[in-house]
Parts: sequence; C-alpha cells; structure tokens
Amino acid sequence: MVNPKRHDPWYRKAVLYQIYPLSWADSNGDGYGDLRGIIERLDYLNDGTAGSLGVGAIWLSPIYRSGLADWGYDIIDHCAIDPLFGTMADFDVLLREVHKRGMRLLLDYVPNHTSSKHSWFVEARKSRGNPKRDWYIWADPKPDGSMPNNWLSRFGGPMWTLDDATGQYYLHTFLADQPDLNWRNPEVRAAMLEVLRFWLRRGVDGFRTDAVTALIKDQALRNDPPNPDFDPATSLPSLANLRIYSNVQGGLGGLVGSFCDVLAEKEDTFLLSEAYLNISGLKELYGACERHPIHAPFNFNLITLDWSAEVYRQFIDEYEGSLGPNDWPNYVLGNHDKQRIATRRGQKRARLLAFLQMTLRGLPVVYAGEELGLENGVISTTNERDISLRKLQGPLLKRDVSRTPMPWSGGYNGGFSEGSPWLPLSPDYAMHNVELEERQPESMLALYRHLIHLRAACEPLADGAYRSIAGGNPDVFVFIREAPWGKCYVMLNFANTEQRISLREIGIWIAGTHLIEGDGQPHDQGEIRLKAYEGRLYELMRTLK
Ligand code: GLC
Repeated sequence: MVNPKRHDPWYRKAVLYQIYPLSWADSNGDGYGDLRGIIERLDYLNDGTAGSLGVGAIWLSPIYRSGLADWGYDIIDHCAIDPLFGTMADFDVLLREVHKRGMRLLLDYVPNHTSSKHSWFVEARKSRGNPKRDWYIWADPKPDGSMPNNWLSRFGGPMWTLDDATGQYYLHTFLADQPDLNWRNPEVRAAMLEVLRFWLRRGVDGFRTDAVTALIKDQALRNDPPNPDFDPATSLPSLANLRIYSNVQGGLGGLVGSFCDVLAEKEDTFLLSEAYLNISGLKELYGACERHPIHAPFNFNLITLDWSAEVYRQFIDEYEGSLGPNDWPNYVLGNHDKQRIATRRGQKRARLLAFLQMTLRGLPVVYAGEELGLENGVISTTNERDISLRKLQGPLLKRDVSRTPMPWSGGYNGGFSEGSPWLPLSPDYAMHNVELEERQPESMLALYRHLIHLRAACEPLADGAYRSIAGGNPDVFVFIREAPWGKCYVMLNFANTEQRISLREIGIWIAGTHLIEGDGQPHDQGEIRLKAYEGRLYELMRTLK
C-alpha cells in the first residue's frame, strides 16, 4: 500500500534505463540509432499502463556534436545535437514526449575532456600564448625530449601527445582525440557549468557525469609509482602504474559539489557520477553533495563480486551501512563499457541478479537489452567500431559486444533499422527480443516488467528499510524490506542446486524468478524449497502475526 502523505523525489521511486542512442532505434535507415527512433519507441518504456516496462527515467549516452572517435564521448559542441542523431527540434520533441509519459530525462555530461576538434582546443593549440591555452593541460618535454612523466592512458599508451607546432605535450586520460580540460582554470569551470545550465533550462532533469575520478590530477605532474600487482601476462598494460597522481586528487568532491550547486538551481534534478570505487570511495563521493542530497556515485560493485550469497550479503550490508540518511543507493549490472551481464554470469544468474537489483532499496539502473537477457555480440575485426581500446589487447576489453543494436523483433535486423546496422545484432536476438518476450509469460522482460510495477505499487519495496537476516542456509541470501505500512521478505538461492529455507512469518508469494507473479497464496511458517538460482518475494501479512 502506498502512503499518500509521503512526498519523495522522483529518483527515489524510479528505475533508470540507459539508452545507448546509436544502438536503440534507427528511424532513417542509415544504420545508426537516432532521436526520432527513440521517440517512436518510448511507449515500450512507459505508456502509463502495466503492459509497458514502467521505467521512470531515461539516461541517454552522449548525443552532442562529436568527432565520433569515442562515439559521442569526444564532444565538439556541448550545446548542439550531432546530425547523426537528429536536430535540436527532435531533441525538444523527445523531451516533451518523455515528460508526457511521466518519465524524466538525464543527459550525459562529459567534463573531463573535449574532442580535439572542439573550438576551445583548436584555439588552445594555435600558440603557447593563446588565451585558451590554459584551458587544457600542457607540459614541456623533458630535456631529452621525452614525455613529462609516466602517466598511462586508460586506452593504452601514454597520457601525453606532442603537439608538433607548439612543441609541448598535451594530456589525455583517454584517446589523443580527447584532450583533458584543465579544471584548475576558473574559466573552464565557469564554461562547463554553463553547459549544465544550458540543458537544465531546456528542460532536462539531470545528468550522468562521465569519468569524474579523472578530473583532477597532480599539479606537479609527479610520476605514478609502479603497480606491485602488475603481471604483464594478465594485467591491462594501462595498469602498470598505480594511478596515484594521474587520478582522483583532493578537490574532486568540491568539483562534484559545484555540479550539484548548479543542479540545485532547478527543482527535482538528479546527478549520477561514473566512478568505479569501493565502499569507502563511494561514501566519500556521496559527501560531495551534502548541501543538496541530489547526487549519487554509481555503484558498479555487483558486476564483479565473487559469486556467493555471503559475499553479496556482506557487500550490500556494508554499502547500506555506509550511507547517510539522505544518500540514495543504486545498483548497476552493466553499461556500454562492460560485457553483457547475461554473458558474464549466464542467463540463470543474470535473472537472479535482476531479481536482487529490483528488490533492493535504491535506484536500479538498467542498461538497454538487460531486460531481455541479451547476450554479447560477436564482433569480427572488420565489424569493429570501438577503436579506443585497440591498443589494449584482450577479449574482455571489447566494448562493441555490449553496444549491438536493440532487438525489437526476431525479424530483419531485429527491427532496429531498415538499413545496414552500424554493428551486427547479437547472435541470440532471435531468442531475446522485445516482440517475442512480450508474448512469453515467463520471459526476462516479463520478470522485469512485473518487478518494476511491483516496486511502484508496494511501499516496502519502493521505500522500505533494508535488513539482511540469517536464513540458516549459507547459499541463500535473505533480506527484509520494511516500511511503516508493510514488510517484504526476499530470498535468493545462489547455488545451482535446490536449497531449503524456512519462512519465519506468514507471507503471500507475490514475485519470483521462476514463477514471476508467485502463486498469490499465503504461506505459513515452514520450509520452502528453492530451485537452483531461484529468487522469491513474499509480502508478509502483519495483521495475521
Ligand atoms: C566513460 C564512458 C566511456 C568513455 C570514457 C571516456 O568511461 O562510459 O564510454 O569511453 O568515459 O569519455
């Protein structure tokens, strides 16, 4: 039951859905997804009925004018739409249509770098004395002509590229086409904060902020120390050094705090930052926005935890325990940079994780296709589109595999495009697609849809406190979600064998991985047999206690 007196900000009730615009829906047959395509498919996400997915907010990966070296993350103009995606008029229609359906729209904010084709950098590299020079990070070669220090780009090779004309190196955490902005320069800060204001004025509801941990580097440019755990046979070459000086220097909190200050100029906004951090790092970053509790750093940890009920329980207990009263947790299972969860964990475990994500307290972030159980694409060298990681070898690094087009049907090009898709569809699209899964009562899509609507309708799930309990079986993770108006009991079997567990109170079985809507019947205290990788949710009947 929902308590009508309660007022919550939207992000405490929503599920956030990430669209990688190039791959979601192509309206003009050029093989690339675009804004018109997204508009045409919005009803899938939320048409106001229980037949649609029911998400509350959408985050779009970058749609701005771009050099397309990193597919949008190399921005040429922060306040213009790339023609590949459409026009500003299309954007305005999209925003209107999103709002009409009661959803919110978050854009990607990329503060760490611009494209090397951005007018700021074009100016900056004209001469050492150019007024825009200090908007980027420049350093002289060492006396022997070598690089200023040993910092390594996340995409392989050094973080420095020599600008021949002016004889200095410029810094880039990612590709050489993505020079890093100098956030110590007040003019840069002011200009980049204006970018936020531009889109807020246009009507967006918030942002996902890219790569925040890279924003502030050591001013003295000291060498990073070698990484003692580095093994050339198995580690990424970019991890040969510990990123002590090239990443996350003091002052990051202040910067993120300044983004929040701008967002707080408008009502009902929200900011998520991309930061791959452990619990203490996340806690610190939550603190960045103490003045306005409208920010959360993404919690990516569920992606990589060891597979065990106990490890998950411990992590979630600790994460929950680290949060302040105004901090809103979140859980991510994948994105456009990671292997697909259904491939990494397998279908059954992915289904259990979806169940976990949707029943925990906090904002679930769903990457397009996860709700279908979509698996990795298979990308040959000729089909490869992500050049950024080419210098770093290894199958785990291929990001194209999770960027394949959204399969709307099992038909021609999965209904994504009339033309030739920019990336091939994942081979499993005949089995995992919207049209088919909408008809299958037990599909992954049906599971997501049921849980998303349940979250909205059931107060303990939407808003209740989280508390894990010792269920007496180490393979089963059991937790309670409790609100003033009700209580739910969630149990997840992490083993691939049947496990038994006892229910301590009387509850109605209302959701499950194996029987999506449960059986709707009250179950009294007694033993429950959970199948391999089965999750179940019971709503406890307090009045019968
Ligand atoms: C973030 C993005 C990634 C991009 C990088 C550089 O990690 O998620 O796709 O390549 O930043 O902007």
